[in-house]
Amino acid sequence: MQRKYVLACETSCDETSLALVSFGEDFSVDVLFHKTASQVEIHASFGGVVPNLAKREHQKNLPLLWESMSSYLAQKKITPDMMEVTVGPGLEPALWQGITFFSTLHKTVYPNIPLIGVNHLEGHIYSFLFHESFDPTVLDTLFPMVSLLVSGGHTILGVLSDMHSYRLLGETKDDAVGESFDKVARLLGLPYPGGPQIERCAQQGDMHAYPFPSPLLHSDDYEFSYSGLKTAVLYHLRHMSGDSTQSFSPGKQATLPKTLRCNTAASFQYAAFRPLVEKTKKAAKEYGAHSVVVSGGVSANSFLRSFMNETFEREGGHIPILFPPLSYCQDNAAMIAAAGYVGSIKGKEYPLEANGILSLSS
Ligand code: KG4
Ligand code: ZN
Repeated sequence: MQRKYVLACETSCDETSLALVSFGEDFSVDVLFHKTASQVEIHASFGGVVPNLAKREHQKNLPLLWESMSSYLAQKKITPDMMEVTVGPGLEPALWQGITFFSTLHKTVYPNIPLIGVNHLEGHIYSFLFHESFDPTVLDTLFPMVSLLVSGGHTILGVLSDMHSYRLLGETKDDAVGESFDKVARLLGLPYPGGPQIERCAQQGDMHAYPFPSPLLHSDDYEFSYSGLKTAVLYHLRHMSGDSTQSFSPGKQATLPKTLRCNTAASFQYAAFRPLVEKTKKAAKEYGAHSVVVSGGVSANSFLRSFMNETFEREGGHIPILFPPLSYCQDNAAMIAAAGYVGSIKGKEYPLEANGILSLSS
């Protein structure tokens, strides 16, 4: 079987990542080189991603990552078969850094291979190919596959009838679930990015301490909403800190007792995940799913993983739930290689220009 070597680049937000992945025709994957330079610490002091800082960091990191990638390629005498770069969605100044860098590399080093634009969201979806126990010989048995994508910018439920046919079922009407973790973490005085911090704090709290609302939990559709939940947490903290009239200020966070903080984190996390689990289960039933894939930064959350697994074991027909390995949940170039490779089989590619609001298409 002929394998294809794919060189990929991801710079849509605050991770600069390059990967070299080899793919078999059966979608077996072999990650040969994968390096990601994270900017999390740089943005943490600002409480969120600063686009111009992200752009500057990508500009600095790309040549450094390429230096070690190119020496790997030379040492192994590998010539890639195609190059793939994220074109959106994301921060446009950050996206342009990757596009420009790869376009120059394409022109100067590999002018005879295709350079393909890739949708970041498809990258998250196809990250299930990196699952530790993914077996390409049974790939066909996994469809229809329900896909839940949960990240800092997106909350999207869809269904794949085969490897190439995606249908969007619903998404968030306002905040993304990861975004709500980041905002609630700020209210609790926890540093950016909020997801892992809330998860850790919640492990020491009681998830039934406060009955926060789970918006659209039982709505007859596949939409989500997270801005109301964040506001409910804000009002709760104002009330508990005896400050019901003023806006909840950063100074107050330091005075929150640890029990209140962890109970709030656990109750918020439970309320945030209930609609995700419920609607994924509903979609799996409606579309006769043979598997579910949960991807994106929030899919790293261990409570979400056990909540989803336990629910499907109990009431979801024992179908496999595929979570990417932890290092493939956050933004990375290997998943871009996967999405680009899958798309290239059907001649699918996106224009080589940054598109901050690019959405999923079938
Ligand atoms: O997929 P990702 O790296 O970037 C986007 O494409 O947005 O996702 C980042 C998001 C952030 O909002 C972060 O707080 C959240 O994923 N996140 C988590 C966890 N780890 C990261 N949320 C909940 N629990 C986690 N363990
Ligand atoms: Zn992402």
